Amino acid sequence: MTEQNLETVILAAGLGTRMKSDTIKILHRAAGRPIIDHVLDLAGSLSSRKPIVVVGHQRDAVMANCGERARYVVQDRQLGTGHAVMQAGPALGEPIPDCSVLILSGDVPLTRRETLAKLIEEHRNNGNAGTLLSMVTDEPAMYGRIVRDESGELMRIVEAKDASPEELEIREVNGGIYVFEAPALFQFLSTLSTDNSQGEYYLTDVIAGLKNSGRKVGAVITNDPVETLGVNSRAELAMVESELVRRHVEALMREGVTFRNPSAVSVDTSVRIGADTIVGPFVTLEGSTTIGQHCIIEPGVHLKNVEVGDHVTIRTSTVAEDATIGDHASVGPFAHLRPGTVLGKSVKVGNFVETKKAKFGEGAKASHLSYIGDAEVGADANIGAGTITCNYDGVNKHKTTIGAGAFIGSDSQLVAPVTIGDGAYVGAGSTVTKDVPPDALALSRAPQKTIAGWASKRREEMKKDGK
Ligand code: UD1
Ligand code: MG
Repeated sequence: MTEQNLETVILAAGLGTRMKSDTIKILHRAAGRPIIDHVLDLAGSLSSRKPIVVVGHQRDAVMANCGERARYVVQDRQLGTGHAVMQAGPALGEPIPDCSVLILSGDVPLTRRETLAKLIEEHRNNGNAGTLLSMVTDEPAMYGRIVRDESGELMRIVEAKDASPEELEIREVNGGIYVFEAPALFQFLSTLSTDNSQGEYYLTDVIAGLKNSGRKVGAVITNDPVETLGVNSRAELAMVESELVRRHVEALMREGVTFRNPSAVSVDTSVRIGADTIVGPFVTLEGSTTIGQHCIIEPGVHLKNVEVGDHVTIRTSTVAEDATIGDHASVGPFAHLRPGTVLGKSVKVGNFVETKKAKFGEGAKASHLSYIGDAEVGADANIGAGTITCNYDGVNKHKTTIGAGAFIGSDSQLVAPVTIGDGAYVGAGSTVTKDVPPDALALSRAPQKTIAGWASKRREEMKKDGK
């Protein structure tokens, strides 16, 4: 269900002082994305109209983050939630159109889409002028309390700071999420006063206003406290992060991914993983990372914006960023694939190998202890242990090209720009400064000198000297 006649307003003007941060709280990241992005997704899943975001503190940063995904209204001074919603009026149009308005908080990202759909449905089915999401909890803390009469009818909301001791005992609290009929909402917003302990315009007072004027109001109750959890502190940010990751990992498991220790991984909600892939503990998967089917991701692997094919093994403690790994490749343990690395099908990059802007053709191998940067490696080339592409002359970066089927002996330095032709050999320990033609052997190490009996002679001399 996405609706035409549903407008969404997201309150996002408050700074969030309890975060003790230079950054407004809604731009702190959880599961890889700013908190408000999760709320924008939620709004987008329910209404086809762009949400109206009420901005105030750090509005430039908020608007830069949300970009074209939202419309904006400015609340210069934070005079309360009622005042914030009032600012959205002009964006809706004049006169206020006959539509429903869903009000969300930019710092409450865990509400389920189904819960909001139910909220809207009940609101419509009952012909309410206002419907809110409430929660029953043993820890009502600083939430507004839902006051009902003897027959259980919703009467009003009292903020914790304004509540009597008896009202503070109430266990049903206001989740801060509402649907209103737009004309009724704006009619009552204009009558709000600041006659309360905080001297603010309370959006919550609209409920009592509607009720007292004979309009229908109601509440949908959730028993899951995370649905109304707002991020006000770092501890709540961590709770939101772990809930988002938990939900995403559970969804991936339903799609056939094995997590050996689901509570000990960090997986952004943007990450996609194919069926029959096995993910070990302490794995971090970030950004636009996608992993194919039948892969093994061993413990401690960290991937950011990496595209992984099918049947790939990534071994322990490998780190990769902005890289592509082809089908049937094997990487690590302890490999470091830096941006611009593209590994073809069945490539092997082994332990303590670092790559950067390096393209490996199908079946190429660098199995141990190498640095391959600004390089193109042909299919089935074999790069021996300790090979280094010397790509940087102190000013510029230069390219190394290694042909298909070439064999680079261990401990070689390839001083770029340089080309090793197809099928050529570089002898172990060589420093290559000139291009090597196809099928040639290049050898640049000093010839070996062998002096027979030298060692025993030396030992005798040392004995003589009393050493
Ligand atoms: C509000 C409710 C309370 C409810 C709680 C749920 C009111 C008066 N109270 O309280 O009943 O239990 O949410 O979390 O509404 N904001 C603005 N401009 C303002 C004030 C707030 O944009 O002038 C934004 C904040 O940035 C935040 C949201 O509105 O995103 C909620 O404001 P907050 O101050 O957190 O309200 P609470 O005191 O938590
Ligand atoms: Mg709050």
